[in-house]
Amino acid sequence: MRFGHFDDEHREYVITQPDTPLPWINYLGSEDYFGLISNTAGGYSFYRDARLRRLTRYRYNNVPFDNGGRYIYVRDNASGAFWSPSWQPTRTALDTYECRHGMGYTTISSSKDGIATESRYFVPIGENLEIWQFTVTNQRETEADLSIFSLIEFCLWDANDDATNYQRNFNIGQVEIEDEVIYHKTEYRERRDHVAYFACSEPLAGYDTQREDFLGAYRGWDDPAAVADGVSRNSEALGWAPIGSHHVKLTLAPGESRRIVFVLGYHENPKDAKFDPPGSQRVNKITVKPVIDRYLRPEEVETAFAELAAYWDGILGVYQVQSPDPDTDRMVNVWNAYQCMVTFNMSRSASFYESGIGRGLGFRDSNQDLLGFVHQVPERARRRTLDLAATQLETGGAYHQYQPLTKRGNDAVGGGFNDDPAWLILGVAAYIKETGDWSILDEPVTYDSKPGSEQPLYEHLQRSVTYTLDRLGPHGLPLIGRADWNDCLNLNIFSAEPGESFQVAPLAKDGTVAESVFIAGLFCLAARELADIAEHRGLADEVTRYLAEADKMEATVWEHGWDGAWFRRAYDAFRRPIGAASCNEGQIFIEPQGICIMAGLGLNDGRAVQTLDSVGERLATEHGILLQQPAFSDYQLRLGEISSYPPGFKENASVFCHTNPWIMIAEAIVGRGDLAYDYYKRINPSTREAISEVHRCEPYVYCQTIAGRDTPKHGEAKNSWLSGTAAWNYVAITQWILGIRPAYDGLEIAPVIPADWDGFTATRIFRGVTYTIEVERAGPGNAVALAVDGKPVAGNVVPLSPDGVDAATVSVTLGAG
Ligand code: BGC
Ligand code: NOJ
Repeated sequence: MRFGHFDDEHREYVITQPDTPLPWINYLGSEDYFGLISNTAGGYSFYRDARLRRLTRYRYNNVPFDNGGRYIYVRDNASGAFWSPSWQPTRTALDTYECRHGMGYTTISSSKDGIATESRYFVPIGENLEIWQFTVTNQRETEADLSIFSLIEFCLWDANDDATNYQRNFNIGQVEIEDEVIYHKTEYRERRDHVAYFACSEPLAGYDTQREDFLGAYRGWDDPAAVADGVSRNSEALGWAPIGSHHVKLTLAPGESRRIVFVLGYHENPKDAKFDPPGSQRVNKITVKPVIDRYLRPEEVETAFAELAAYWDGILGVYQVQSPDPDTDRMVNVWNAYQCMVTFNMSRSASFYESGIGRGLGFRDSNQDLLGFVHQVPERARRRTLDLAATQLETGGAYHQYQPLTKRGNDAVGGGFNDDPAWLILGVAAYIKETGDWSILDEPVTYDSKPGSEQPLYEHLQRSVTYTLDRLGPHGLPLIGRADWNDCLNLNIFSAEPGESFQVAPLAKDGTVAESVFIAGLFCLAARELADIAEHRGLADEVTRYLAEADKMEATVWEHGWDGAWFRRAYDAFRRPIGAASCNEGQIFIEPQGICIMAGLGLNDGRAVQTLDSVGERLATEHGILLQQPAFSDYQLRLGEISSYPPGFKENASVFCHTNPWIMIAEAIVGRGDLAYDYYKRINPSTREAISEVHRCEPYVYCQTIAGRDTPKHGEAKNSWLSGTAAWNYVAITQWILGIRPAYDGLEIAPVIPADWDGFTATRIFRGVTYTIEVERAGPGNAVALAVDGKPVAGNVVPLSPDGVDAATVSVTLGAG
């Protein structure tokens, strides 16, 4: 069952009924100012840090789930009837409804009783504000006398404090109202130098800024007294709960349309010029006013919207494909790329499943997010890479997260995840392959953000390798520490304390025994990548060293990490294997299978294929590949959080989507295009659109987890949007199945597509050259014959074009010879 459809031409998902199984959301903003917006206009906004600079309030664990947002009420003054054109919060039945989520904007249109409205929400490029462009049309044959009320609820900035510290918060709220603008200035009188503002383009019939005055006692967003009466209270919030609501009265002739622009924004003043006049307590509005005035003008709004579209044309234009499969095309060309931008921006901080309170930018997460983002805005990828590296510790280890506002490592969320440092190598490698910018390796970068500790980025990569080698366990495999990629495999924690966080609980064991085969595989992959980098730098000794270390680790994996038909997962604190046929539960895990084959293990002796066959037999389901089997049926101290989840959920044997592309890539590496693509399609959100009543999450973005077969909820998705799934699926389909991948010295072309595809066409902008790539199947198999602008090229790498060339056609004959 579907709740909407894709509009590929406009790059939109069109939701045609408001009561989707879960809120289906979109993101506004792409640099500093961000908003989350649902298909019923729910959600909130923040500036840079979802916790510390929250502009509007989000109520956690709300009922209904999606309540509170960017609301507009329409009131028919003749009858007194009022409704929400976005359906929520009044949930009045609408005659028509449509929500279009697009690239950085959302448009909700509806009509009721002959009054049609359209609300378009977006953030202009480069601005710290969002625009609500509201159009109302009288489709009746008689004049319409209408009241329009806007509504937002301000957050008192720190979202965590806002949700908990009422004894203070009910006393600090402050606003100013000047012209048609409501300024939210809580704490501005003291240590803040920022305000939020909410402006309206039309003369006001009234306004409200105090929630209880607007709503009336004991009333909710669905039935505000001011709207019911058609009269704003002109309330001025002092304490309690500041809101922003404008009231505009309109009389519309039959057929007449009117446009109202609302602007919600964030503004900072210099510390020494906060007040105007100086010495007063009034917000200095000198620099913000021109910005507000500009964006209240409809023509400026149109220009800004056109700029947004052009921005996305540019970003998405870097990689476009026309294949025989629409699910592939729309994900590659639009939605998967879009989600990669969102994960790059948000890491795992703010979604409808991530509160925006607890999590900064993850070291591991952000490095992986780069893999799907680096081609979009390479300069931002560069900055992020350097920011991440600057928090690395002198040991080569990493804080698990850093806070975007301070850019410092965050101790409070734990460390000692022993896989973390290796991801930095993969992120940097992806950046250099995309850009050819080797200079990044010479950038001086601090350790632990300490001035004076700067060393070239290259040294950070060296220390990442050393970090693993310095921490080997009894079998010579890497010690797992607190956990590895699987945050829930806590082999040293032994937590028996209710509510204790597995992320920060003290280690009960000294950590010198439990080992990770996954980190071993990741190490081989990263060390071999670093050897390639060293080779390009002419560092022959280092090449030898990294290759030798990788080979040694590989030998250890074969000796102690191979179970006979697949790779083991780990050894626990008692040296017992995890992910082995001899285990009762957790016999086979997906992670080491994918990562070891990506690192090149078993490619020459059939063991990679044997491993993938085991995955197919034991882990693959119609809804994707399970993380492990059989699920753990009880909580086990020696395993930690993984066994805390009921069987089939999250790390305990769901389809943990992030890991599925590793298997797709591995299948592509062993040359099995049909299987790689089959796995790709099983979790492709567009493919799953047809079963939206089962999947329940948005059909246009990946989710983190799909319930596994050990639960009756098999197939139900959760945690949409913010997951490494976005970047890795993007890599799997674009670089390994379609096979167009940046390499240090050119663009590698090695498609491993389904046998029944005749070919495909793609455009890839790479190092300033637009390549049109035409792939044609001449026979079975994956052998590639290349011609660039008609001239045959040996091998499968399109060499870098000479300077001055900005376009080339690459003809690829597949399965030839
Ligand atoms: C989740 C993991 C997540 C971890 C980090 C756990 O509860 O299951 O998926 O990575 O928390 O916060
Ligand atoms: C989600 C985390 O963000 C990610 O870093 C981790 O690898 C997975 N969960 C698996 O536990």
